[in-house]
Amino acid sequence: MMSVETEIRFKLNGRELGLKVPVTMKTLTMLRDKFGMTGTKYACGEGECGACTVKVDGQTVNSCLMYAVDCDGRELVTIEGLHTPQGLHPMQQAFVDHGAIQCGFCMPGMIMQADYLVENNPALTREEAQRGLEGNLCRCTGYTKVLDAVQAMVETKKCCGRA
Ligand code: FES
Ligand code: FES
Repeated sequence: MMSVETEIRFKLNGRELGLKVPVTMKTLTMLRDKFGMTGTKYACGEGECGACTVKVDGQTVNSCLMYAVDCDGRELVTIEGLHTPQGLHPMQQAFVDHGAIQCGFCMPGMIMQADYLVENNPALTREEAQRGLEGNLCRCTGYTKVLDAVQAMVETKKCCGRA
């Protein structure tokens, strides 16, 4: 059966892009298979785990649930887009510094969500961070060190000085 394709244009990590995508393709598949953005992970594929979290127009979304055609005219940021010219984004560095990363599979999504939370609430409390990260599941860390990292970001307010 022929799949119907649609042309979309959108911004990905600051670059204007155009692409024909099957109308049934999910954003996660497009990011990984068409653009090599493999930092964004496929896990449950059902919107339950947050491993596929990316930003779309500044909001975090589960890219496994979003159709690629709905990216038309939008601005997407993946974990690859968080890098600064100096290297790791301060939120990434905080996760490293606090030993918050074990196998790392959940981390791109977790860091995207953590960055979103602090960006939108520079006075984020530990409890608010815990609630805000509820949709990002991790099998390894027990979350304590993740919350330590986010709390450290809030305290030093490094997020506000993104290069
Ligand atoms: S892979 Fe998208 S929420 Fe789990
Ligand atoms: S660090 Fe392994 S799943 Fe989170």
